[in-house]
Amino acid sequence: METKRLCEKDIKTASALLKQGELVGLPTETVYGLGANGLDTQAVAEIFQVKGRPQDNPLILHIGGTDWLERYCEEIPQEAELLAERFWPGPLTLVLKAKETVPLAVRGGLPTVGLRCPMHPVALALIQEADLPIAAPSGNLSGKPSPTTAEAMLQDMDGKISAVLDGGKCEIGVESTIVSLGEKTLLLRAGGITAEEIEAVLGRKLDQILVDKDAAPLAPGMKYRHYAPEAPMTLVLGENSASWIAQRLEPGDGVICFAEYANLFSGHSLQILGKEKDFTSQAKQLFSALRFFDSAPVTRIWAQCPRKEGLGATVANRLEKASSYHIIDLEREER
Ligand code: TXA
Ligand code: MG
Repeated sequence: METKRLCEKDIKTASALLKQGELVGLPTETVYGLGANGLDTQAVAEIFQVKGRPQDNPLILHIGGTDWLERYCEEIPQEAELLAERFWPGPLTLVLKAKETVPLAVRGGLPTVGLRCPMHPVALALIQEADLPIAAPSGNLSGKPSPTTAEAMLQDMDGKISAVLDGGKCEIGVESTIVSLGEKTLLLRAGGITAEEIEAVLGRKLDQILVDKDAAPLAPGMKYRHYAPEAPMTLVLGENSASWIAQRLEPGDGVICFAEYANLFSGHSLQILGKEKDFTSQAKQLFSALRFFDSAPVTRIWAQCPRKEGLGATVANRLEKASSYHIIDLEREER
């Protein structure tokens, strides 16, 4: 299959492909998604096949606005309305009780469905033009870093899907935050919106913040291997992480670091995420940095870890997963 490269003015072509049951890569403000008509069971099945995704891992339905919620949800709790009003369009996924109209394949067999109204103008235009909910996981092969450019998406999907819509580099660069609203309001995945921002809108603490292994029974995706580059990666936490890494570097090692410390690593394959406190830039660069080391192979990867506050907590979470939890915490070792 030849994968067409589409640009922003080809929304109608992309929409027609979706309606024919084809898979189309699309830009969002978080990461690129592998999209299909979310009401077409056959097309949804193909997403799982092409991505190599386990069947029990549900997909997010991308919708055109808050007014679409009642098409696909049985109940809309007041807190869901509050969050949607404040953060949509944007990087927030709400998990709500699904109507029967949402195919079981989309939901991975669950009674709930994940819904998100994306902010990227190309994604929104495509949803509106097709007048369909677009089911879309991140556009990477299962286990690989999520794509934040059309080129990265093509690395994984060229020849396997009908088209990729190029909408430039994703502004946010990490996936959406997932909040589940049932009897309790739970954070299932850290993402583009911080837990602090969610709590500010709720006017109270989240009932629980679950991460990865704790979230696995509720967000099945959290139990699978993620974002892993091919070379083994070690994540180093602590104020002196840069000099600690520099002392241990061997020829052939690669480094993911903050801008302030780049000169410590000259001569090594290097990816700079941004300044140490600039979590926004770190989030935006993260996945392309991880992918870089697959196209320019290294023996080992060492990475500095940001402070776990605000969007820094999301960046740290993705780095932890990419390292398969191979983490050295210098501050803990000193104690
Ligand atoms: O930013 C994003 O969310 C991107 C863009 C394309 O929108 N999408 C994305 O999808 O990251 P994916 O499939 O890579 O991750 C979706 C996560 C998985 O961990 C999945 O288990 C969880 O959302 N999820 C989806 N529906 C769910 C549901 N009904 N209940 C619990 N977790 C759900
Ligand atoms: Mg994903």
